[in-house]
Amino acid sequence: MLKNIKPFIYLLVLCGIVLSLLSCNRKSDPKTLKIGLSMDTLKEERWQKDRDIFMATVKSMGGEIIVQAAQGDDATQISQCENLITQGVDVLVIIPHNGEAMALAVKKAHEAGIPVLAYDRLIMNCDLDIYISFDNVKVGELQATEIVKLVPEGNYVYIGGAPTDNNALLFRQGAMNILQPLIKRGDINLVFDQFSDDWSASVAQKHMENALTKNDNNIDAVIAANDATAGGAVQALSEQGLVGKVPISGQDADIAGCMRIVEGTQSMTVYKSISAIATESAKVAMIMAEGRVVLTNNTVNNNKIDVPSLLLTPVAVTKDNMKEIVIKDGYHKLEDVYKNVPKNQWQN
Ligand code: BGC
Repeated sequence: MLKNIKPFIYLLVLCGIVLSLLSCNRKSDPKTLKIGLSMDTLKEERWQKDRDIFMATVKSMGGEIIVQAAQGDDATQISQCENLITQGVDVLVIIPHNGEAMALAVKKAHEAGIPVLAYDRLIMNCDLDIYISFDNVKVGELQATEIVKLVPEGNYVYIGGAPTDNNALLFRQGAMNILQPLIKRGDINLVFDQFSDDWSASVAQKHMENALTKNDNNIDAVIAANDATAGGAVQALSEQGLVGKVPISGQDADIAGCMRIVEGTQSMTVYKSISAIATESAKVAMIMAEGRVVLTNNTVNNNKIDVPSLLLTPVAVTKDNMKEIVIKDGYHKLEDVYKNVPKNQWQN
């Protein structure tokens, strides 16, 4: 009797081995996860780096990545998101042009069962799944702190970013955290305070021209929200022979901004590691695509919910730590930043 059962047992064991091999095989060959990245723009230098590093990370993790950029147009960005949803992405990552308008894209993604990650800029008034950015209030605080160190009293100009970008509001909030007590004390006089549509350098230049005209060129310091707007303002200052004489901030460590810093026409920029935000976001997107839970260390309220958030740390950069921060991190090459500076004045 036992003798007859033996071949049957062998057969069962064999079937078991084959089945487990098949299931192992299925595990090591999962469905390729698809990530959609919807970008506002590729205009500022940083966004191309964001895109390239994000794409490379998703690919290195075996995922597929589809990227679309909306060139600053809300209707285009919504329809590009719809298109990504139709293409069956597992996660939608959005860098919104307009934080309010893109709530609609989040709603549409959720209707299709797709989670949404807001990258760098928050999406307002919606059930956003996750937000990955920098501490943007801190960015504004760093800008104002550096400028106040150089100009503790006098006439200040604030040139902000796009009012449709929640970050622009946070940068201003941070700057005002530092300036407000000094304004109250009467040390600082905020003589001009405007946002710049679409972060436009030419709008920022016009703002600076107006501020100079209205105050008979009596401007002591400028807080510009990023390097693009700083570039516009520096242009206006140079037309009045004031370049290098009026301290001015920036943000992004754009090559043009870094060059101005070592040449003495811009006082500081804020370095935000694009490699860190792009890599982190791509990894989180892949975890979400697998349906796994992402652990976050923070929440940020978007006027509807407290959105689980990961916030990275920004760093102030001046002439003194350009090499230690921007060059050392491989963001720019020493010879590119110091291109217009005599070699004996390069930072050692
Ligand atoms: C980003 C900045 C950038 C600006 C303009 C902001 O949301 O945080 O790094 O300079 O957009 O693109």
